[in-house]
Formats: sequence, C-alpha cells, structure tokens
Amino acid sequence: MRIEPRYQQLFEPLQIGPVTAKNRFYQVPHCTGMGHALPRTLAAMRAMKAEGGWGVVCTEYCSINPTSDDHPHPFAAVWDDGDLANLAAMADQVHAHGALAGIELWHGGSYVSNLATRLPSIGVRSMPSRTEPIQSQRMDRSDIRALRQWHRAAATRARLAGFDIIYVYPTHGYLLSEFLSRSLNDRSDEYGGTLANRVRLVRELIEETRDAVGDRCAVAVRFSADGHGDAHLSADEARDVLGMIGELPDLWDLVVSDYYGEEMATSRFAREASLEDRIAYVKRITSKPVVSVGRFTSPDTMVRQIRSGILDFIGAARPSIADPFLPTKIREDRIDDIRECIGCNICYAYNYRGAAIRCTQNPTMGEEWRRGWHPEHVPAGDGGSVLIVGAGPAGLEAAHILGKRGYTVALADAAAEPGGRVTLESRLPGLAEWARVRDYRLGQIKGMPNVSVYLGSALSAAEVREFGADHVLIATGARWRRNGVGRCHANPIPGLNAGSVLTPDDLMRGARPQGKVTVFDDDHYYMGPVLAGMLASTGALVTYVTTEGKAGHWSQYTGEQERTQQQMLELGIEIIVNTTVDGFDGEFVSLACVYSGRKHLRAASTLVLVTSREPSDALYRELVSPESESIDLKIQRIGDCRQPALIVHAVYAGHKAARELGEVPERLAAKRDRTVI
Ligand SMILES: Cc1cc2nc3c(=O)[nH]c(=O)nc-3n(C[C@H](O)[C@H](O)[C@H](O)COP(=O)(O)O)c2cc1C
Ligand code: SF4
Repeated sequence: MRIEPRYQQLFEPLQIGPVTAKNRFYQVPHCTGMGHALPRTLAAMRAMKAEGGWGVVCTEYCSINPTSDDHPHPFAAVWDDGDLANLAAMADQVHAHGALAGIELWHGGSYVSNLATRLPSIGVRSMPSRTEPIQSQRMDRSDIRALRQWHRAAATRARLAGFDIIYVYPTHGYLLSEFLSRSLNDRSDEYGGTLANRVRLVRELIEETRDAVGDRCAVAVRFSADGHGDAHLSADEARDVLGMIGELPDLWDLVVSDYYGEEMATSRFAREASLEDRIAYVKRITSKPVVSVGRFTSPDTMVRQIRSGILDFIGAARPSIADPFLPTKIREDRIDDIRECIGCNICYAYNYRGAAIRCTQNPTMGEEWRRGWHPEHVPAGDGGSVLIVGAGPAGLEAAHILGKRGYTVALADAAAEPGGRVTLESRLPGLAEWARVRDYRLGQIKGMPNVSVYLGSALSAAEVREFGADHVLIATGARWRRNGVGRCHANPIPGLNAGSVLTPDDLMRGARPQGKVTVFDDDHYYMGPVLAGMLASTGALVTYVTTEGKAGHWSQYTGEQERTQQQMLELGIEIIVNTTVDGFDGEFVSLACVYSGRKHLRAASTLVLVTSREPSDALYRELVSPESESIDLKIQRIGDCRQPALIVHAVYAGHKAARELGEVPERLAAKRDRTVI
C-alpha cells in the first residue's frame, strides 16, 4: 500500500550504530506490571506492538543484579543465565515482526529497598530508600568495580538473548543519577567532585557495554536533557555532559527532569509534544540519532518533530499502549482509526500497584496472551441481534465490538448525546482529552451499517422486552450518592440540609454554587480536586475536606497527586485532611478528625459530596426480577451499573461482554502465566 506522502518520512529506515530500525516509531522503555513475573504475558504484549508496526520495541527497566530489586513491582531482570529464556522469548517475538528489540539495563541504587532479595541496597552515599525506613550502603571502590562487572555481564546476556539495543540508564533518580548528582555524590575519589568525575561511571558503562556487545548491538543512553534539578545536575551541566560524551553511544533517548509532573504528566497537566523546548538543542550537540517522548498521537506533530530537526525517532510509551497499531494506521492512512491515548495514566497506576498493565482506551492491553485478545481483530459472532441500553463507555465499547463481530446492534440512551459519564467528565477542567474514549468508538461505529444509535430514548422494561433482541446488555451507569455514604459513612450522614447539598452529577450538569462551598472527598481520586478547582475558578470560596492525608490521595498512583495539590493551593483552596464531614445544616458543616473524632464547625452555604456512587440498575433489576416476564431474556449488566468503578473498568467490561457474547465457555478460559517447578 502506498504511504501518504506527507507521512513518508516516518517510515524511512534509520541506522542506530550497527543495527537498522525499519521506521521511526520507537517504543521507549516502559514497565508493565509483568516483568520477570509474567514472561509469556509480557512477550505477547511486546510482540503485539511489533506486529502493529513499531520499529523498535524495548523492555521495561531491567535489573542487572539482585542488589536492585524493586519488589513488589515486577521489574524485568537479567541477573543470571536463568533469565535468558524469558528475555529471548520477548526478543524473538519482536523480531518475528521485523522490529528491533531494546533492553534497558537498570540499577535502582538507593531508591530500591530489596524487599525480596533482602540484600543491602547500594548508593553513591548512604541515602533513604524511596519507600521503606532503611538506607543504602555507601559504595566503595570495590562496589563500583562489582557494578561494572554486573553491567557488563548483563549486556553480554542481553546480546545472547537476542536484543539489538542495550541501554545505559543514568536518569529517573536511580543509581547512575546519584553519581551525576552534585548534592548526593560527595566522593573525594575519581568518581566525585568535578562533572567529568561524576560522569566517569556512565562513560565507563557505555564503553564497557560496547565492548561486551561488539558490533552486534547498538548502545543507547536514556538521559534527562535538562538535568535533574539545580541541586543535582543543572540544565547547563546536562548540556555539558552531552558535550563530553555526546558521541559515545549510538542513540540518545531523551527525557526531562520532572518525571511525574512533565515527562509522563497526565493530560490534565501537559499537552502533546510538551518536552520539545527542553530537548530541541541536543541534536546540535551530537551527531547520533535522538529519540524522545511527548504522548505523540498526531502524525502531523510527529512529522514536524523530524522535519524541524528535533527528533530522529518518535518515542512513545502511552500512545503505544493505547494503540499498538498506531504506526500501521498511519502507514495505511487510517488516521481516524487511531485509538488516541487520553493521558489518564491508568496504565502507570496499575503497574505501580503491582498488577499487570491495563489501559482505558485499549481494553486488550495485557490480555494478549492470557485471553488471546487482539486489539484489532475479534472473532465473528453468530449474526444475532443485541440491544444495548446506555451509550456510556461500556455501552459504546460493547456496540463497537459487537458491530465488528457482525451482530445487529441497537444502542439506546436516554440522554440526547452519547458518551455518558465520559461526555460529562470531559467537560470538566483539564479532562477534555477523555472525550477520546467516546469519539474513537463513535467514529468506528459510524461506518457500521449493522449498528444503530437511538439517543433521547429512555427504555422501560416493557419496551426492552418488546424490542425482541436476542441479547440485551444493560449499561445504565451510576449516580453519585447525595447522602454521604462511602468509605467513611456506611449509613447516610444524619440531618443533611438536602437543599444545599450537591453531587458531582449536579456540577457536571451545570450547577455553580457561589459563596462558601465545602467539597467533601471520600472518593480520593480526581473528581473531588477537579470539582474544587472548577468551583474556585468560578468564584466560590472553596474548602476541600478529605478523609485521606492528601488531596486526591489515589492519584499518587497516576503520578498526579503533587500537581493536583499544588494546583489547588495556587487556586486558593483551603485543604483539610484526615477529616470527615458528619453534618451540615445549610450554614455550618460539622467536621470530625478521623483519628480523634474531635469536632469543629466551618461556615458553608453549600456542601458538595464526592463520596461514592449508586449503580443505576433499576432497569436491570426489573428485567431479571422473579416476577418479570423477561426471565428468559439473555440479559447482562455491564460497567458502572454493575460495579461503579473507573472508565477503564467500564470499557473493559463492555469489551469482554461483547467479545465473549455467544462464545462457548471452554473457549473463554483464561490462561495462567506462572512459574512451574
Ligand atoms: C506505564 C509506564 C511505565 C513506565 N516505565 C518506565 C521504565 O520502566 N523505564 C523508563 O525509563 N521509563 C518508564 N516510563 C516512562 C516512559 O518511558 C516515557 O518516558 C513517558 O511515559 C513519556 O512518554 P509518553 O508520553 O510516550 O508516554 C514509563 C511510563 C509509563 C506510562
Ligand atoms: S491508560 Fe490512559 S494514559 Fe495510559 S495509555 Fe491508556 S489512555 Fe493513555
């Protein structure tokens, strides 16, 4: 197929030292929550990216030695020859689709706690670990010599496993960044003091990696182009480092100093290509190819990065998770088929929680091996008819997949516009990109003659029965509770002045209270902080009260918590933590400390309750009640009306129900990835 001329450049092969990538699409290292623990799951997932057209597919951070153990996060590992088979499985499957395989050799330094191996962690000096009340052991010369040997051995094994690009990884706060840091590196030997000395270990590792892999593999360095903050490695020093060793590796993979706040910021806080101004200078310093990231989903932006001489490769973590077939779709000029990342960082959150990666936009992510799900192909169905009630994320995904499987689908929603909660939430400040969940699916459905959408159609149980579809999926969503029930209150908060109580649903439908507003967040994710910010921006005097210790506590897993709290403080919102609301009379909110129970009153004319949601399952319950005439209907409920959860869960539920509809149970059994003795 002829490639659209304006995107042609993205498909030009490019040499990286001794190897050549078939195109400019480069999946940078990203973790998966699979690592060493789920090798088959991992290999199949990476293989899917290669099948989807990525020219380079890398591992996640891959530990070179048991002194770098990030348990309970399942990192990759190349500790000994026993790891070779698992790593080779990934490299082989990536090669089978014509892509290069990269491996990010990693030592965590003081950051890790070695919870599994119980070895002392090592650092440039003794420093506290990231999470545990322990410190690392200061490295002496013999430790540095050992580290160099481990790195060399890991590089040799990576070559044996079949990898084409071997990384040296002096960024993201791990061991090699400690050596680069002016503040942390207090050594008086040849590895400390001057910048040249602090860079020495990185230089040695690049040279020794090249020595180990010969002319078979390329050597890449992942590096922060604007340093690690002035206390550690200033932007000028980072430039100087590139001046010193810019020609040593075969490729520079560039990031920036603020990992959560910028490099992998959510769409609430950063737009596509947001790192550009910090990395653009690097190509003027080195003649080596450069890759960097920026949640690239637009082919026009990608082409601009290359034409304007900023990048040679388009790096991607999240866009490759949301759409493993992004390069193929550009090559085939199917731009509207791209499933664009929405920048929610749910992928990161679950990996952070130690579970296999998942994605809001791509429900097949992580299920390639276990369930045999392909992001682009679904099995044909039996050609029956399906009525889906509710066109939110679950209903839209189900309609899309069932339409693809050849079912005759009717998708009905009581609202005048499709999208359900996604439409409402995407109108909140910072969440506009979430509309991509709706728009991608509507775009796919649009071309399907077998899918009809009926908006403004509130269906009763009788109408559902009369419709006469072979299958019914109920996807009627959930409503925020107006009574305070949630984590803290099992029963309604007594004596609430109902007239002055609002829920997120009210605010998303346009309510804008003025005066003193208390937002009570017992939900702990984005909704409370986003609503508090919106109300403060529209003139209310906002007090945010949460039962947790931080604003938007759970968003620590999406990497947003710090930016969330900063933004709230900048907006003048008062933040009260570890506190619950246990009464409101329309003039005063009664607050109670979650530890001591000590109470105090705060003036407020409006209370916004962000506590929990009630499934909107009345239609489902009526249809399945013992008295119902529709007892024989093949009926399922999916998404929030079954289990109020995140958008990622709703999309997954819609996908699973649609993919499995009409299948025999034996074909649906999920495989288990496990170590067998
Ligand atoms: C789920 C996830 C895991 C990541 N794990 C790693 C990792 O193991 N090593 C690394 O260098 N960067 C890691 N990153 C950072 C990415 O490589 C990348 O720099 C960042 O996501 C920005 O790129 P993007 O906008 O294309 O997602 C991770 C990012 C995500 C989303
Ligand atoms: S989970 Fe969200 S941020 Fe991660 S790839 Fe999917 S859409 Fe993008």
